[in-house]
Amino acid sequence: MIEYRNLRVALLGAGSVGAQVAKLLLEHGDELAARVGASLELTGIAVRDVDGPRTADLPRHLLTTDAQSLILGADIVVELIGGIEPARTHVLQALNSGADVITANKALLATHGPELFDAAEQVGAQLYYEAAVAGAIPIIRPLRDSLAGDRVRRILGIVNGTTNFILDRMDRDGGSFQDALATATELGYAEADPTADIEGYDAAQKAAILASLAFHTTVPLEAVHRQGITAITGAEIESARRAGYVLKLLAICERLADPVTGQEGVSARVYPALVSRDHPLAAVHGANNAVFVEAEAAGSLMFYGAGAGGLETASAVLGDLVSAARRHVVGGPGVAESTHADLPVLPIGSITTRYQITLEVADEPGVLARIASLFSEHEVSVETLVQSVAQAGAPARGGARSTATLVIGTHAATDAALAATVAAVAESDVVDAVTSVLRVEGA
Ligand code: HSE
Repeated sequence: MIEYRNLRVALLGAGSVGAQVAKLLLEHGDELAARVGASLELTGIAVRDVDGPRTADLPRHLLTTDAQSLILGADIVVELIGGIEPARTHVLQALNSGADVITANKALLATHGPELFDAAEQVGAQLYYEAAVAGAIPIIRPLRDSLAGDRVRRILGIVNGTTNFILDRMDRDGGSFQDALATATELGYAEADPTADIEGYDAAQKAAILASLAFHTTVPLEAVHRQGITAITGAEIESARRAGYVLKLLAICERLADPVTGQEGVSARVYPALVSRDHPLAAVHGANNAVFVEAEAAGSLMFYGAGAGGLETASAVLGDLVSAARRHVVGGPGVAESTHADLPVLPIGSITTRYQITLEVADEPGVLARIASLFSEHEVSVETLVQSVAQAGAPARGGARSTATLVIGTHAATDAALAATVAAVAESDVVDAVTSVLRVEGA
């Protein structure tokens, strides 16, 4: 029987992920010990209520409401409480006491990341957070380690399973956003209050984490441009399909040149975007996640899998636990979070993208020329134009004139120029309505 060094692991939280982490740790303890060369002793599980409901049977003697004592006696603290407080206080206390910390807490990292990384650096501890972005999918370690010698140019992530489920459902079965949301709620994908998912807040937190890591720059959550999917209509999904696109809520992190100064900066943004049906991200269905990374030397890589789920996310936490334990065995200080590049975060107007704009217009001579001149005045080049007349020769709206639908696809331009074009088009007296404005990404 091999005698291993003992590492004390404190678990904070026994929710859907925490309970699975405890179960795996207790069931696979011997195997994990052989892998890392140290035994991982689960010293306790801090919970709010020791009699609360659990998704797994956990030994009662391990449950405690005294998180503080548990933290102070630990080599490694696993924080799976979620939210900002008391998680922040506990994580800081753990780091300040010299313990390594593993967290799945995207909200905490996106809002207090620099404070936590500083605290870790002060004592040579390490903060691990593989489970904070895209659940089971390994993406933090590839960005931090595997691609550390490369330069990441862009990340396109489907990092929210609820919204991917909703958009995929609308694409496959037709129907409205509200219908698809109701199905997502029924099947347990959407939470009772789905705001964080459908308004893009969850994806924005993940974008801030990914951009900070990929570009060695602190990207604050407030600098992430965010737009959710609540205004997406069945007609937009159908029109996207006819044009060879699929609509996805993307978290986009990009290194790019400021169009005015030419200086290098970064962008982090979340919005629903049209993606070609040939792009690998178009094949991400249901509640799955995927992160498509474009790096200068490695080229394009895609990481795909379950973005949520207690057991799936527990896998990522256990991976971090093994890494932390191996570091304890080998010794040496933790690797500090790298923010050396310190690039400016560019506003949404400075990014380069393409728009697809749908307009209802008067079907009369000269209308197209008027609209084309508005594009030209803003130096936006039109790539495609599809006109359809709903009912040819039908009586005009209000009895005065007939109307047509125009779908205009642009070449790449700055978002500022594209947005200004849309504003000018919307004000034109030949345009009855701008019914859809979507960005095209992934080209
Ligand atoms: N609510 C998230 C999702 C999972 O729908 O993907 C946790 O980040």
